[in-house]
Amino acid sequence: MGVKLIKIGIIYLLIGMGMGVYMGATKDFSVRPVHAHVNLLGWTLLGISGLILFVNGNAAVDPILGLGSVLITVSAAVFAWLLLTKLPNAKGVAS
Ligand code: HEM
Repeated sequence: MGVKLIKIGIIYLLIGMGMGVYMGATKDFSVRPVHAHVNLLGWTLLGISGLILFVNGNAAVDPILGLGSVLITVSAAVFAWLLLTKLPNAKGVAS
């Protein structure tokens, strides 16, 4: 199942990238939301889901998954801190 999701995802990526190239070449950006969603849902979501199913049950990847989740959580916390402390208020002053 994991491999199948990755294979479906890569087809979506090719279609999404084709739309990106089309937009760049024609300067017609009307398919921008479709492009974004084909890439993000079709490729990113299916690809990640495929990888998760692919590694599921393989105990050797546990430490990597653990480290990755801690790093992502710390990154999200730093991002949240930056947003909450550095974004300007309505008057344009950092608050
Ligand atoms: C060959 C590869 C790609 C090309 C040539 C391309 C090209 C473009 C272009 C021309 C735009 C519109 C920019 C604008 O309106 O100023 C765009 C927007 C966007 N692209 Fe791509 N793209 C590519 C791959 C990807 C991939 C792989 C993803 C995601 C995994 C992605 C996600 C997005 C997103 C989220 C937007 C913004 C959509 C919006 O503002 O509504 N693109 N891309």
